[in-house]
Amino acid sequence: MSTLETAAVILAAGAGTRMKSDVPKVLHRVCGRPMLRFVLDVAKAAAPSRQVVVVGSGKDDVVAAFAKSGAEFAEQKLQLGTGDALKAARERLADFRGTLLVLSGDVPLVRAATLQALLDAHRAAKNDATVLTVRRDDPQGYGRILRDENDDSFAGILEDAEAAESILQIKEVNAGLYAFEAPQIFSHLEKLRANNKKREYFLTDAIAEIRRSGGRVGTFEAADADEVAGVNTRRELARVASVMRRRILDRLMDEGVTILDPSTTYVDADVTIGKDTVILPFTAIRGDVTIGQGCEIGPFAHVRDGARLEDKVEIGNFVEVKKSTIGARTKAKHLAYVGDAEVGAGANIGAGTITANFDGKAKHVTHIGDGAFVGSGTIIVAPATVGRNAVTGAGSVVTRGTEIPAGETYVGVPARKHLKKRG
Ligand code: UD1
Ligand code: MG
Repeated sequence: MSTLETAAVILAAGAGTRMKSDVPKVLHRVCGRPMLRFVLDVAKAAAPSRQVVVVGSGKDDVVAAFAKSGAEFAEQKLQLGTGDALKAARERLADFRGTLLVLSGDVPLVRAATLQALLDAHRAAKNDATVLTVRRDDPQGYGRILRDENDDSFAGILEDAEAAESILQIKEVNAGLYAFEAPQIFSHLEKLRANNKKREYFLTDAIAEIRRSGGRVGTFEAADADEVAGVNTRRELARVASVMRRRILDRLMDEGVTILDPSTTYVDADVTIGKDTVILPFTAIRGDVTIGQGCEIGPFAHVRDGARLEDKVEIGNFVEVKKSTIGARTKAKHLAYVGDAEVGAGANIGAGTITANFDGKAKHVTHIGDGAFVGSGTIIVAPATVGRNAVTGAGSVVTRGTEIPAGETYVGVPARKHLKKRG
């Protein structure tokens, strides 16, 4: 095995007690994705050959959510602390002699470039252990980095709850992300004691032990404190989500999307938007969504999972689109719900249109053809079809199973073919 080989281990077994939740912490969502997914993505970039996720609390849910990710899973049966969690990873890595990149499932903002820099620093210094650190104005809740009085070298990590007042003043904290030479850290995990207030086996204590037994331990300071923010509470979840949200909006703007007011625009991580699309204020675009080029979305629009908008579509105020395809140049400008619909190109969805897609048991599909004109206040009870270039009158109720033929006009309740008056 080459010494440059790297395996990533993601600690994700913790109970997440401070979240006060029935959902495992790492499945809590940040911009539409379970937070573990962000960590797994950067782990793949830094250690493409192997990623081992340590699972425990809510293990079945976590494994189910990431079954197709390519990661391996190791089980930590009892949540006895971060040191014990890394020990659990050994069932997958018994023969591994390379570098371990250890990540936390609850630190989702970290970037691949930072992990690469950590690994580079670890190798350049020929360390046995390298701790990613960061300076925080508010270090509360993090382990503090202790340094040698004489040469300022790494001396240990003390958890917030264990630390005296003088140590709590230290602003340099442990990010919970590390590079280790696998044999060294694994051998020291064996000797850990749970002699702390939480009665847990702390990974951080094993690092101090490596140093005490003559190993090389170093630190690598990350420039951006946001990047290594951990999520232990709902407040921290909200803070991390707002940083992630801003990153997504910045990326979209870099790609040519106009966002009038980033402070009131919510776009999830799995959204793709084409250039020259304009997003107006108070808009939420959530889940797996694709929006084409030159569209206008909002203000006050809600575009949900499974929406596919082709080019030059206009979605206006108080319009919700869910799991629907909307063809090019189609407009739904005011007060509408379009769900489970296949809408063609150049159609007009009038104010107040509703696709009644749910009958209380199942969801049904609405088809609206190219160039159709759906009059204001139309309710289409799915499954139903408004044909190509067909028209519905204002206030029509297109009942279940109706198929309005191409080019025809239907009006009324229930909607019937419109017969022009004679004379
Ligand atoms: C940990 C560090 C702390 C650091 C902080 C950064 C220790 C002892 N402390 O504290 O120095 O500043 O992260 O965010 O390591 N986990 C398991 N099994 C367990 C316990 C935890 O898999 O038995 C996982 C959790 O799911 C989580 C990660 O390890 O993803 C960190 O655990 P957490 O309890 O959040 O540690 P912190 O208190 O944040
Ligand atoms: Mg944590």
